Amino acid sequence: MANLKGGAGKTTTAVYLANALAIEGRTLLIDADPQGSALSWSETAGSFPLPVVSAPVKDLSRRVPQLADGFLHVVIDTPPGELAITRSAMLAAEIVLIPIPPSLMDLDRLRPTLEMLADLEGLHTPQIVCLLTRVRRGTRSSRAAREVLTELGMNVLDAEVSLREAYANAFGLPLTEDLGEYADVLADLHGKVRA
Ligand SMILES: Nc1ncnc2c1ncn2[C@@H]1O[C@H](COP(=O)(O)OP(=O)(O)O)[C@@H](O)[C@H]1O
Ligand SMILES: [Mg+2]
Repeated sequence: MANLKGGAGKTTTAVYLANALAIEGRTLLIDADPQGSALSWSETAGSFPLPVVSAPVKDLSRRVPQLADGFLHVVIDTPPGELAITRSAMLAAEIVLIPIPPSLMDLDRLRPTLEMLADLEGLHTPQIVCLLTRVRRGTRSSRAAREVLTELGMNVLDAEVSLREAYANAFGLPLTEDLGEYADVLADLHGKVRA
């Protein structure tokens, strides 16, 4: 999960998707944000169907192969401000999922994230997928955001995550029973990315 803008929905998406992936096979969630929200979420929840480790380090790409040993899926939550950590996470990733709320400000502030990805050219080419989060259904902003991203040549998931109290209040809760729209997000992701 990457978006250099804070509050985009990275941690929420990382935790929900990791829980959804854990149903398919052994999944590891790496919390690369020094603020440690994903780790605190799992600690507060008590029972979590997957391990969460904290690794807010700049050499993540070197460490991930070892950390990932024995896991089918690895999800990495990244910080907004620590560029070197996010870059290293991108280098380690097969898929970079960019959660984006459909506001003009969020779209405007997407540029640094896209530039960071462009700078990896020649080193590593992860698949890049955008996910609209905190969407108010049927609004002009969500349609416009999708158009803008598509015009930029971005791959945008059809599945969207709505603006909902249930997500805003999910911090610290176990999610095994209710993955909300993230079950659809995962299905869409599986359909969109190359094997
Ligand atoms: N779909 C959603 N609906 C409502 N609130 C959300 C949703 N997704 C995230 N939030 C809330 O928005 C805030 C930012 O989300 P978060 O996942 O922490 O973003 P980031 O990790 O990119 O900073 C948090 O308070 C979170 O609970
Ligand atoms: Mg976060």
